[in-house]
Amino acid sequence: MSSSATKTIFTCSRCGGQSLKWAGRCGECGGWGTLNEERRTENREKSWEIGQPGKVVGLEEIEISTEARLQTGINEVDRVLGGGLSAGAVILLAGEPGIGKSTLVAQIANSFPRNDGKVLYVSGEESPSQIKERFLRLSQSNNLIAQSLNRSIAFLPNTNAETIVATTVHLRPTLVIVDSAQTLTSNDSEDRGAVTKLQASVALLAEAAKKFSIPLLLIGQVTKNLDIAGPKSLEHLVDVVLSFEGDRSGAYRLLRAQKNRFGPTDEIGVFTMTEAGLREVANPSAEFLGVRSQAPGSVATSILEGTRPLLIEIQALASKTHFPYPERRAAGFDTNRLNLLLAVLEETTRLRGRSPARSSLARDDHDYRSIAFSDIHLNVTSGFKIREPAADLAVILAVASSLTEKPLPQNLLAFGEVGLGGELRPVRESTKRIQEARKMQFITFLAPPDPSLKPFDELHVCANIHEALEFVGLV
Ligand code: TYD
Ligand code: MG
Repeated sequence: MSSSATKTIFTCSRCGGQSLKWAGRCGECGGWGTLNEERRTENREKSWEIGQPGKVVGLEEIEISTEARLQTGINEVDRVLGGGLSAGAVILLAGEPGIGKSTLVAQIANSFPRNDGKVLYVSGEESPSQIKERFLRLSQSNNLIAQSLNRSIAFLPNTNAETIVATTVHLRPTLVIVDSAQTLTSNDSEDRGAVTKLQASVALLAEAAKKFSIPLLLIGQVTKNLDIAGPKSLEHLVDVVLSFEGDRSGAYRLLRAQKNRFGPTDEIGVFTMTEAGLREVANPSAEFLGVRSQAPGSVATSILEGTRPLLIEIQALASKTHFPYPERRAAGFDTNRLNLLLAVLEETTRLRGRSPARSSLARDDHDYRSIAFSDIHLNVTSGFKIREPAADLAVILAVASSLTEKPLPQNLLAFGEVGLGGELRPVRESTKRIQEARKMQFITFLAPPDPSLKPFDELHVCANIHEALEFVGLV
C-alpha cells in the first residue's frame, strides 16, 4: 500500500529553516525575503511495510576496539581530546575570529606525527604565502627545521569538497586540516540554503575521513549571528566539538571539549598567545595568580575545570553610585548570579541599603558603605569565565571587603556555594581544591561544611556567610 502526495513547503535560503506558509520574514533567523517555495513529493508508505529486518548483534558478542590514539604532540590538546585523536575522527574547532584557531591548527600540523606521511592543509581564507609565513614563524620558535616542515605539509588552496576528498584519497595524508568549514563549496548545484550546503560539504569530508581512517580537523568560525551557518549547525555531523575561547585582548586561551564521542567533555587546555604562537600553560594556577592585588576587594578562590582545580583571583570594586539604579557589572561572572549574591549579602548581614543621607552615619556605625547606593563591579582576573557556584563565597567576600575598604588576608583561599538563606553549601572535590592551594602556599582556608573534608588546623569551616565574614573581620 502506498500513496504519494505533493506538498509545498518554504525553505529559508539563509538558515535552512522551514515553514508551511510563506512569510516575508523567516521565523527562525529573521531574514527578510529569504523563504523560497519548494515542492516535495512524498511517498507515503506505511513504515512497517517498507523495510527488511536488520541483523541484530548481542552486546556480549561485540568486541571493544582498542585502537591506539594518535597524539597530536601538544599535551593540552591531547588532554582535552581524552588522550589524542582516534583514527578517522572528525573534529570541529570553533571560535571567534582572531582568537587563534589558525595558529593552533598550524601548531598541531607542525607537531603531528608524520610517519613519512604528510599533513594536508586546506585553506580558503588565506593565501598560500600567508600560510607559509605563519608556519615558518611558528616552526622557528618551536625549534623545528623549516626544511623538513616544508616537505611534510601539503597545501591545497581549493575549498571544493569533492576536490578535497579526491586529494585526500590520492595523497593519503596523516591528517586533514580545513580552514575554515564556512569556505567549503560543493559541486552540488541544487539551490539550497547556505546551511544545507555547508552541511552537505562537511558530510562529504566526514565520510571520506571515516572510510580512509584519516582524522579531519575543521575550523568553524563563530559569527555574530550565532547560529546562522555557524559551527552549531555542524555539531551533529562531527565526533568532537572543541571551542577555543578567551578574552581576545587578554593573553589566555582555553580549549574546551563541548562534545566528545571518544572521551570526557569537561577537560580544558590552557594556552597563552605569545609573539611566537600559542604556548601551553602547564600550571595555570601559578600564572593566574601571578600578580595579586593587595587592595581591598580581592580574594583567591578555586574553581574546578574537568579534573583540574584552578586558582584564580576575584576582584570587586564598590563605589558610590551616581545613578538612580546602581550599576552591577561582572566580567567572567554571571551578572544575575552577582545580583542574587548581593541580595543575599544585604539580607543576611547588617549591610542593608540606607538612604544616602544616612549612609555616612551608617559608615560610622559599622564601617559599611551601603550596597543599595554603590555601583559594584566584579572582575575575574586573567579573563577566565566562571561556570560553577563554588566561587560564590569568594564573590561575597570580595564585595564585602571593597564595601568596608578592608583588605582580606593575602594567603586566604575561599570557596563554597551560597544558598538563598546565606548558608554555605559544599562543592565537589573540596579536597582537591585545597591540595592545589596548599601547593601554591595558601595557608588559610574558608570552606563550607563538607563531610568528605578531613579537618586540619588551617581549615575554617563556616556554615553561613555571616560566620565567614566574621572570621575575616568584616562584620
Ligand atoms: P589567528 O590564528 O589567525 O586567529 P583565527 O584563526 O582564530 O581567526 O590569530 C589570531 C591573532 O593571534 C592574530 O591577531 C595574531 C595573533 N598571533 C600572535 O600573537 N602570535 C602568533 O605567533 C600568531 C601566529 C598570531
Ligand atoms: Mg583563521
